[in-house]
Amino acid sequence: MAQFPPVMKGLSAFLYGGDYNPDQWLHQKEIWRQDMALAKGAGINTLSVGIFAWAALEPREGEYHFEWLDEVMDLMAANGMKAVLATPSGARPMWMAEKYPEVLRVNRMRQRELFGGRHNHCLSSPVYREKVKRINTLLAQRYKDHPALGMWHISNELGGECHCPLCQQAFRDWLKERYGTIENLNAQWWNGFWSHAYPSFDAVESPSPIGEMGSHGLNLAWRRFTTAQFCSFYEAEAEPLKRITPDVKCTTNLMSTYDGINYFELGKHLDVSSWDNYPAWTSDRRDAQVAARAAFCHDLMRGVGGNKPFMMMESSPTAVNWHAVNRLRAPGILMLQGLQAVAHGSDSVQYFQFRAGRGGSEKFHGAVVTHVNSDRTRVYREVAQVGERLRAVAPALGSAPENRIAVIFDWENRWALADAQFGLNGGDKGYEETVLAHHEALQRLGFGADVIDENGDLTPYRLVIGPMTYMLRPGFAERVRAFVAGGGVYVTTYCSGWVNEEDLCFQGGFPGPLRETAGIWDEETDALDETQRNHFTWQGKTYEIRDFAAVVHPENGAKTLATYRDAFYAGAPVLTEHAMGQGLCYVIAARTGSDFLQDFYRFAASQAGLRPLLEAPPYGVTCTRRVGDGGSFLFVMNTVPQQNTVTLPPCAALEDGTPLAGPYTLAPYEVLVLKE
Ligand code: GLA
Ligand code: ZN
Repeated sequence: MAQFPPVMKGLSAFLYGGDYNPDQWLHQKEIWRQDMALAKGAGINTLSVGIFAWAALEPREGEYHFEWLDEVMDLMAANGMKAVLATPSGARPMWMAEKYPEVLRVNRMRQRELFGGRHNHCLSSPVYREKVKRINTLLAQRYKDHPALGMWHISNELGGECHCPLCQQAFRDWLKERYGTIENLNAQWWNGFWSHAYPSFDAVESPSPIGEMGSHGLNLAWRRFTTAQFCSFYEAEAEPLKRITPDVKCTTNLMSTYDGINYFELGKHLDVSSWDNYPAWTSDRRDAQVAARAAFCHDLMRGVGGNKPFMMMESSPTAVNWHAVNRLRAPGILMLQGLQAVAHGSDSVQYFQFRAGRGGSEKFHGAVVTHVNSDRTRVYREVAQVGERLRAVAPALGSAPENRIAVIFDWENRWALADAQFGLNGGDKGYEETVLAHHEALQRLGFGADVIDENGDLTPYRLVIGPMTYMLRPGFAERVRAFVAGGGVYVTTYCSGWVNEEDLCFQGGFPGPLRETAGIWDEETDALDETQRNHFTWQGKTYEIRDFAAVVHPENGAKTLATYRDAFYAGAPVLTEHAMGQGLCYVIAARTGSDFLQDFYRFAASQAGLRPLLEAPPYGVTCTRRVGDGGSFLFVMNTVPQQNTVTLPPCAALEDGTPLAGPYTLAPYEVLVLKE
């Protein structure tokens, strides 16, 4: 059983609040006082401040103005509020770009950007790192003993990449470190192809449309390097903070499945994982899918933080300003959105934004306090209700899910898969959607699941699912083998075990080092266009196949459970089972719909000896469990605007102790928090 300490210094409650920009109101400070009253009225206990405040803190080089922030911090402390205090590196002041152009990013076309936007500084620039270090040091020194200081928010949504000469040099140094000699690099990247061998490390350039884009080894290395640069940038930012305020946790807000950084690497550096959740709620039945995706992202973000309680650092209190359609949320969705985060292990519910600014591109983005500047709005009332509910479910704070199922989502695998040109297209082959589909099938069956990458520890689990593990990272196949031999149930699919960590194809038959455990040889893979289907029948039911169909041959005593109905490979196995040691390995050789995934995982979970948290939940109802010193808490969520009847296990409502068991009808979007 796991019980974790509070994520924020000096606060043993669910963090409730959001991004707050008092620096945009320096000319109208009476707003600050209204903000405190409005925040308190909504049950808010924490505000994230200073995120883009560099120009207000240092309007001219070396001229610091902390007075306004002192005032804000004092005001917050006086009102019992905690600060998630940000370092301002997410947006630099203009004077810095003018005086030190090296802080500006260079794009893939090798053009240096002009000043503008945000999140676009060079990752290597010694000047930028020095400036950031200086301002972070001053912030930490100034507020180290301030009662409002609760946590550090490093930068904001780290992302992108820089191709400037400084970054090229850093890349070459990184390559030297990884490969040792240029001969080794040339061999690992298969540079005999198209006469691409490099004469020296100095000849290597980052991927560019005016240069090399087709070297898979280079592309992979560049993405790994960029991840390493973000980790080192984050560490450089955190250094003064950790030195001066060792008891204050640091985080940076992540973006769920953002492609550009391997979050499982960055996650190792964070004291607590936090992320920005912006589901495009539809206010109709499709919210079941919207919720399923959000659930997957929560589990992923918890996973990158080591499956401890995490934070939902941002979410919108109503419509955002950047979805294709910015729909208002039907009453109840806000509660669902907040409690769903908690259900998946978040110890916070935070919004972007607390108050909408009068101008700028986010003036119509959802906010707790809008331009009417009042508490008499529907959104404000709903925000206040969420605040009240979070206080009522406080016993669940610090507990965490203890799932026995893991689904693998691996950034490096994703990068390699996106580069691979075979089958349907040169794109990403639907990797993210496929992993989500497997995770969603588990949700629909009433199971909770963790999301880990190929480096993750398999030993806590009974069922592990690795969809499209095209790249097998070092040691992964060996750990899967030990997992199965020791009694685990492992599920692999088409497009698994094709390349090693340098993107070189395995010789001797796919799925390479997974072949023995899988009990198949994967000979070739067919791609079906969007009009084409194949079919198979399993346990009396016929299912559709689309996109990918692999022709595999069972070996080492593996059994065929189902075969293709159509095409020249009709009769070839599409689903196999291999008993090895104490466990089982299944191969799903083709892409199927969610009907099959649900039926299959009902079967596979029972093979693994697992029972769902909730028996046969109706469509739209999902369930999670958090366990801690305070007990075991079951969250039952109705994610659609229709009533749904479920069968509850014997339990009690956490908030008022009402005993419950058996049939219960959930109202639209209702969330139950139960104590088992
Ligand atoms: C991101 C950023 C915020 C804000 C929101 C708007 O998450 O971190 O600063 O721009 O998007 O949805
Ligand atoms: Zn750079």
